[in-house]
Amino acid sequence: MDIYALSGRLLRLLEAERAHTLTVWALSLGLGPHYRPPANPALRQQLFGLDFPNPVGLAAGFDKNATVPDAMLGMGFGFVETGTVTPRAQAGNPRPRIFRLPEDGAVINRLGFNNKGLAPYKERLLKRRNRPGIVGANIGANKDSENRIADYFTAFEALNGCADYFTVNVSSPNTPGLRGLQEPEMLRELLHGLSNRRAKLPHKPPILLKIAPDLDRDGRQEVANVASDSAIDGLIVSNTTIGGRKTLESPHRGEQGGLSGKPLFALSTEVLSDMYHLTDGKLPLIGVGGIATGEDAYRKIRAGASLVQLYTAMTFAGPQLIPALIGDLATLLDRDGFANIRDAVGADHRH
Ligand SMILES: Cc1cc2nc3c(=O)[nH]c(=O)nc-3n(C[C@H](O)[C@H](O)[C@H](O)COP(=O)(O)O)c2cc1C
Repeated sequence: MDIYALSGRLLRLLEAERAHTLTVWALSLGLGPHYRPPANPALRQQLFGLDFPNPVGLAAGFDKNATVPDAMLGMGFGFVETGTVTPRAQAGNPRPRIFRLPEDGAVINRLGFNNKGLAPYKERLLKRRNRPGIVGANIGANKDSENRIADYFTAFEALNGCADYFTVNVSSPNTPGLRGLQEPEMLRELLHGLSNRRAKLPHKPPILLKIAPDLDRDGRQEVANVASDSAIDGLIVSNTTIGGRKTLESPHRGEQGGLSGKPLFALSTEVLSDMYHLTDGKLPLIGVGGIATGEDAYRKIRAGASLVQLYTAMTFAGPQLIPALIGDLATLLDRDGFANIRDAVGADHRH
């Protein structure tokens, strides 16, 4: 057993949020692994004007305060999404608020956007700005904000020039009312406001919208319509679900919050596939939710994802998962005769 497998076992003996805090602290001291997955032209892709060395990214929520993006890139991720950051620091919900469900390969969290606010986040991103590696900023609204849409504008403008792309998170279930921003009128105001602000900037960063897996058929259609006519660059599908509890076995299955990990895979992949269909395959999609193997990542790509992200599986399997998963994905592409990942995107829609 290597040192990371051993420390992973020890960390799992601790309460989930303590283990996470300790992990981020250790990573910030440079104690993380340094994998260098061999450059593989089959996995490399230009998208949104960015050069992705591989399509497997770290999902938002692991590095909320942008403390360790370079350590995470060093684990082999092709890109890292930091945040969610809100304009002002906030404490989030009372603890305990992260629950492991090992029997189900899942996590339930109700953190509620705990973060230290824009100022330290921006400072850290500015400090690493000239380093290689794609780092995105996932932005949100403060719980007690009087104008939540304005919070996104504030964060976007404050962080311009610091991040390679922006994710507009309107899909966390843990800030009451936030998902209401997925309604067409609000969403239009938010996305048009952001693209108008971007139009005036010297750099024009890509803007992605992260959606919930709990949207019904009409909701998905409305999001597809607004996304298609608002000049945003892509969708991240999906955040955690408020449903999915029926099949769970762990004693924590009744906890309130968003469910992630294996039980989210089927639902989030179905929504992903639907969004690919509803946007005619024209809007790049990032597939997230329950990815634990190279095969899972490949299934998301075939369902319509140009890139994928994961979080929960890494907390169970440790950092060794990342190079293994990327290697398996490359093998699957090769097995099916795809010379580059972009040829496999949406393949399931073509027969
Ligand atoms: C503990 C925890 C915290 C999270 N925090 C955020 C967040 O701040 N912003 C966000 O957009 N998503 C957040 N997520 C959702 C993940 O980014 C991802 O969309 C979701 O967990 C599904 O992927 P997974 O099954 O690979 O974990 C969080 C997930 C977990 C488990």
